[in-house]
Amino acid sequence: MLEEAAADQETAAAPATLIFTALYWRSAWKYRSRAYRYCFWDAGTMAAHALALATALSLPARLITAFIDALVEQLLGLDRKEEGVLFLMPLGRASSPPLPAPPLSPLPVHALPLSQREVDYPLISQMHTASALETREEVERWRDRISPLPPLEDAPLFPLPSLSAVQSSSSPLGEVILKRGSTRRFLPESIPLSALATLLTAGSGEIEADFLPGRGSLVHSYLISNGVQGLPSGAYVFHPARHGLQLLREGSFRQEAGYLCLEQPLGATASVVIFFLADFDALLERYGNRGYRVAQLEAGIRGGRLYLAAYALGLGATGLTFYDDVVVEFFSPHAQGKIPLLAVAIGVPAPIKRSRIVPLRPDRTPGTF
Ligand SMILES: Cc1cc2nc3c(=O)[nH]c(=O)nc-3n(C[C@H](O)[C@H](O)[C@H](O)COP(=O)(O)O)c2cc1C
Repeated sequence: MLEEAAADQETAAAPATLIFTALYWRSAWKYRSRAYRYCFWDAGTMAAHALALATALSLPARLITAFIDALVEQLLGLDRKEEGVLFLMPLGRASSPPLPAPPLSPLPVHALPLSQREVDYPLISQMHTASALETREEVERWRDRISPLPPLEDAPLFPLPSLSAVQSSSSPLGEVILKRGSTRRFLPESIPLSALATLLTAGSGEIEADFLPGRGSLVHSYLISNGVQGLPSGAYVFHPARHGLQLLREGSFRQEAGYLCLEQPLGATASVVIFFLADFDALLERYGNRGYRVAQLEAGIRGGRLYLAAYALGLGATGLTFYDDVVVEFFSPHAQGKIPLLAVAIGVPAPIKRSRIVPLRPDRTPGTF
């Protein structure tokens, strides 16, 4: 069944496949129609963890984003108006071909309502339908048509510390994942340049996915550095192939960084804010409407990797939303024609103040302290 949906032999041969879906209302109650992209960011963050764990366990794992949507929805008994399939993650490789699938009967499961009343944001399911693939031929044609996006043009770069100087962490991955959270307050301190190089290397590494056949990337990492030792404060774009930063504008942009991130102080107090942007016209031309989904997903995975790298280094991180057009304007003319996908703020976390918990004694009832 999954082989039929994904037109992919390896998916059929995998002993297990994780299927990531999104119940739109879980995000739409807060973010309304904008929730559609949050679904990919959040699932991308989870995929970053799953891929890292698979690597640690030497388990082959990759992302499949081209599949017949309706077939996977049918397999899981989903109503597309409420819940969409985001991607598949086949795990492992079987030595023998799979047994023939039994006839499919509808799944008799119903999700419990999350709220007494739900507000419909029809743009969400419309976007999902507009980027759906209907037939096996469409899935195959999509895979054949996709091609890498244009690389960044050459420019003089600020060199980053060599990869051998990139910091490594002794914390086991499982511990880092458990420790990871979204930082709520940053201290006004700076981070070492080697930490920034480590973060950018981790965030721009290869992703095993059907939408990145040349193991490239659909996104570029722009950043505002306000507290990196040895790096002049300013706006930069990262060139992963040459491991360096192109200076776009020098200056202290703390206030601007906070403003771009929907006026949230976390953007202003972070040592560095990394924004993932994609060239929208090239994306639509080479990936069609499905390109919107996979670019948001890639940003989510790269954001998830930034979180893990930050926590492995003892730093803090948080995803942040932003004013779309103002972000592009800030990084222009370099960013002209691009769309922002996700922002991640990184810095030195303030210690969390834990509330003192007063144990209740059996002889005291609440309100008698
Ligand atoms: C993609 C993404 C975007 C986020 N955007 C914001 C934001 O704009 N403002 C904010 O305060 N927190 C933001 N967060 C943090 C979330 O509120 C937080 O991840 C969520 O409450 C779960 O908590 P945890 O990350 O500590 O597990 C974002 C997190 C992610 C992963």
